[in-house]
Amino acid sequence: MKNIFQIAHISDPHLSRQHYREHIKSFKMLLRSMLNEGADHIIISGDIVSTADEDDYYLAREILSNHQLLESSKLTIVPGNHDIFGGPHRAIDVFSFPQHIRSIDYTRHTELFQNAFAETFQGVTRLNETSLFPFIKIVGPFNIIGLNSIPPWSFRQNPLGTNGMLDDQQIDALEKLTSLGILADRTNIIVVHHHFNDLLQSDYDGGKLWTKIESNTMRMKKRKKIVRLFQSLNVRYVLHGHIHRNEIYNRSGILFANGAGAVCDDPVRFLKYNVLTYLDGYCNVKIRQLPIPYQISTVTQALHRNHQPLRIPVFAMKPME
Ligand SMILES: [Fe+2]
Repeated sequence: MKNIFQIAHISDPHLSRQHYREHIKSFKMLLRSMLNEGADHIIISGDIVSTADEDDYYLAREILSNHQLLESSKLTIVPGNHDIFGGPHRAIDVFSFPQHIRSIDYTRHTELFQNAFAETFQGVTRLNETSLFPFIKIVGPFNIIGLNSIPPWSFRQNPLGTNGMLDDQQIDALEKLTSLGILADRTNIIVVHHHFNDLLQSDYDGGKLWTKIESNTMRMKKRKKIVRLFQSLNVRYVLHGHIHRNEIYNRSGILFANGAGAVCDDPVRFLKYNVLTYLDGYCNVKIRQLPIPYQISTVTQALHRNHQPLRIPVFAMKPME
């Protein structure tokens, strides 16, 4: 009998009662498709809601509950910047948001997020006493390591709340893990909101001012150091979001999969999710697309920012040496 385990990954569904109502329908479609395709576990790597509004958390809870997914064994979620700070949603908000974000209580919103999805953190191993992150969750043949890459607001370091960082506590906890060697028996997956690649050259074409601002305010700080740390932990996969596109890329022998084009690609032409399949000791990652409106297929292609369909190779790796 074959030994198979499938993880489906999406990011940035940006659920909101006020804005992007179509995302609610798209999110439900994605969940149904992932479950129908045989996902054993689903990962959402942040920005599950768009405005950090308590009611939107409960909207997300209700949808997940209706799909029998509010369980630790079935679902892993980490926070994105929109889950903590929200963000500008209308053109006029671009001017008021930098002021508004100063009044947001980071600790309260972090707790709100953790309480809203408390069931999904049950049974995880916490690596430090004062924070939920990082945590380790064992599902099937995988260790899932959940991180919080959302730092508090700071005028210099994080003026719009969109930059990424791992605090010292999380770095220390991960460094201690390397010496303990407890991750050696399974395939290790990091789940984190922020990306580790650069914006595409085409993103800069035309000298778009907003794109330049975006590239300076959406960075993951110290990402080279963090990738080295991931290497020392024998991490094989990093599942993330934040920049709204789906793509798979390799950095230093680790496979990174971005799932943030799930409902938000620009323009939205497909719904998308990543599938990580473990089969008889080997893993591969694919991007799946669902044409809109509402007809399901499983084409392993992805759109880049320039909207040209690209061939996405299937990456195969042995989970352990
Ligand atoms: Fe984000």
